[in-house]
Amino acid sequence: MSFHAEDDVIAPVSSVAPAAALTPAPDPDRAVASRTRTFDNPRLRKDFAAQDAFLYLEDFLAPEVTAQLIHSARALLDEVNRNYLPGHKQGGSVSRHTIDRLAPFIAELYRSKELIGWLEQLSGDKLQVSPADDPHAYALYYYTRPGDHIGWHYDTSYYDGRRYTLLLGVIDESTCRLEYELHTRNPDVPDQPGSVQIPPGGLVFFDGDKLRHRITPAGANEMRVSLTFEYVTDPNMRPWRRFISNMKDAIAYFGFRQVFRQMTSRAKDSA
Ligand SMILES: [Fe+2]
Repeated sequence: MSFHAEDDVIAPVSSVAPAAALTPAPDPDRAVASRTRTFDNPRLRKDFAAQDAFLYLEDFLAPEVTAQLIHSARALLDEVNRNYLPGHKQGGSVSRHTIDRLAPFIAELYRSKELIGWLEQLSGDKLQVSPADDPHAYALYYYTRPGDHIGWHYDTSYYDGRRYTLLLGVIDESTCRLEYELHTRNPDVPDQPGSVQIPPGGLVFFDGDKLRHRITPAGANEMRVSLTFEYVTDPNMRPWRRFISNMKDAIAYFGFRQVFRQMTSRAKDSA
């Protein structure tokens, strides 16, 4: 068994032909607004609160945005960093650093004022983008081999404030499901289990410390790609929490090269 999975090659996973180049990329603010202005936002805000800071929408993204994300997800297959933690997770990911280089549209969507404003309405919190050295700020997650999954967990905030996760469906040719439990942190309300399959363009938005969740294992010849955005209410992080968070990311997600690259280059800059 090897834990050095960075050089793994992604197995052929899909019969779908490679996407053609999509230019020009849509304007993220305009595309987001074209959808969010059609929603019953006061109702969604109530739903979010009633579900203890959780919301699922089957159809959220504008079709041109979904198409752009699908194109990027396929184009980045060679950049996927595979990782494996026995008993807990197995899968692949592409960090923000790679996205910045090769799929800048995703970074623009992450920073879209329309998107952040809409999420603020839902959550009732003032949201900020994650700091530049956080590889989870925006990342693609790949489930492309049999057994790829992630076990039960919370998206724990190592920041001084809350950490919200926005999960966008990109490709789903799989039987994977997001299974979750609401109200686990609230002793006054019984836990409420749920399970959704997130189609391309679908959305899940939640407070990472409140939603217990997992992704069930992929079967043979399946492919699932999701895009996650992380927003915080206070981007400060105490040094020891930073250390724990970096080690977790290096081992479980992106590899040491990606996680510590920024730190090294910063140290060089200040030398
Ligand atoms: Fe998660």
